[in-house]
Amino acid sequence: MKKLTKRLTETVSEAFERCGYDPALGAVTVSDRLDLCQFQCNGALSGAKLYHKAPIMIARDVVEKLSEIKEFSDVSAVAPGFINITLDDGYLISYLNEAAADPDLGVPQCEKPETVVIDYGGPNVAKPLHIGHLRSAIIGESLKRTARATGRTVIGDVHFGDWGTPYGLTIAEYKVRHPDWPCFKDDYDPARDVIPDIDEDEMNEIYPFASAKSKEDPDFKAESRQTVVDLQNRKPGIFDLWKKIKDVSVESVKKSYSRLSVDFDCWYGESDSDCYTDELIERLTEKGLLYESDGAMVVDVAEEGDKIDIPPIIVKKSDNSSIYATFDLATIIQREKDFNPDRIWYLTDKRQNLHFVQVFRCAKKAGLVPEGCELRHLGFGAMTGPDGKPYKTRDGGVMQLSTLIDTVEEAAFEKLKDSDYITGDRRDTAHKIGIAALKFGDLSNQPAKDYIFDLDKFLSFDGKTGTYLLYTVTRINSILKKADESSPKLSALYSDGERELALRLALCGESFEKAFEDMAPSALCESAYNIASAFSRFYHDNRILTEEGPEKRGSWLALSSLTRSMLVKLLDCLAIETVENM
Ligand code: ARG
Repeated sequence: MKKLTKRLTETVSEAFERCGYDPALGAVTVSDRLDLCQFQCNGALSGAKLYHKAPIMIARDVVEKLSEIKEFSDVSAVAPGFINITLDDGYLISYLNEAAADPDLGVPQCEKPETVVIDYGGPNVAKPLHIGHLRSAIIGESLKRTARATGRTVIGDVHFGDWGTPYGLTIAEYKVRHPDWPCFKDDYDPARDVIPDIDEDEMNEIYPFASAKSKEDPDFKAESRQTVVDLQNRKPGIFDLWKKIKDVSVESVKKSYSRLSVDFDCWYGESDSDCYTDELIERLTEKGLLYESDGAMVVDVAEEGDKIDIPPIIVKKSDNSSIYATFDLATIIQREKDFNPDRIWYLTDKRQNLHFVQVFRCAKKAGLVPEGCELRHLGFGAMTGPDGKPYKTRDGGVMQLSTLIDTVEEAAFEKLKDSDYITGDRRDTAHKIGIAALKFGDLSNQPAKDYIFDLDKFLSFDGKTGTYLLYTVTRINSILKKADESSPKLSALYSDGERELALRLALCGESFEKAFEDMAPSALCESAYNIASAFSRFYHDNRILTEEGPEKRGSWLALSSLTRSMLVKLLDCLAIETVENM
């Protein structure tokens, strides 16, 4: 279905044209002052320079043509040259009825088929998910669902960190602690030797320990470097131990992701790009891009006009081992071959901005993807404590993601303790409300900005919170259940409150497009909140269930039902589950 502002833009552009002006001036946007009008067009202001005419004159010309249009209840030219538009109720109603019957609920579908790969999550083997992994997972999941809702084919790939320096350190430390394990012996034979089971607690503790140790102990550092080379050469004992560690890691991160309703189509890791490394080196060499610098192999990616220094990208280290950038470049070859994507999007915190600038420039220079393929990185800000510093545990340590989820669920459970309304499993309801609070608290911010983790605020029933949205849905559930009417019809709008709700619903589809284009689920949050608050006002002003006029009652129920469908769809794209009652 075509979005509302697009339809209006077409009508207004035509009026500009009929007056002899450039139709491109007819862009219509939602008004910032809904109390004055619903939509506005500022084209006459830009037209003034073009036609050497006062903007108000242009606006008046166009308004004269527009006043013939029956879809508008009010069109006026306002100084210095704005065109203010308010829709006729009938038009709004038929738009909403069309949206209600549309399988996509009025969400505009992308015009030509498009494939998007979204690289998010980014967990690492042998490191438990911590709070720094939260945003990539939940923003990425939301963008994946939003892109699907707009008709795109989307592949979510977790891109496990599993093949670089950290795994050399981890395995080298295992060797120090368990020198007797058969995988470390020269005569290791996988058919005969069994590697002991990996203890998850030890695994989680080993990497930070080894990383700190390598800074003080040059011998250990050298040993771990050799171990990465052995791993990347798939030396049997080292490689088999790595596989065991990876299995335990994957199991553990899957558990945390599933608590967040986050899932991936591909569980690939850096190691899966390994088979494309030779091709990468060949292609970079063929193009004459690769050269030696201090023993390493690098590609220049600086461009004229750069405001900061963009250093060459290191593709191979001096010991010929592959690093983070190698994996990203090789993975681009893999994605191009497997999916032929129109876009590849990456989500990490913004400290990796430079890395992605280097990778994208190198990939484009080398032609690893066609010119038209969009490579885009969303670098997001941090979740902080009240002091503005990254959120920590009470004793100042890094908080594990599972601990954060426990905390949020427990707080939601506490809050619901005295509620008489919950009919289902209390723990499950608390889980859903807690996750909704956490996600909405995060996603309602501009992704690039830091935000403060404020659980009391996130769980509040008032204001722009996930809790408020779930509560609104349960309110509608209860009305519709009591009303027990199978297919109510929206036939009229009886008050300004309803008009505002109807307008918010009609604009819902646009927020999906905006969320996708700006990589900003906050646009969905904004739309959901605007709909929910307009619904609350409508609900307060009217006695829906006791209304005696069947047409009015039916209209109100239809509006309530559409409100619920749109809220549920918006929340689903934020990967927030609703609850029946609370
Ligand atoms: N594992 C990485 C990290 O923890 C994030 C991976 C992001 N994706 C990518 N293609 N580089 O920082």
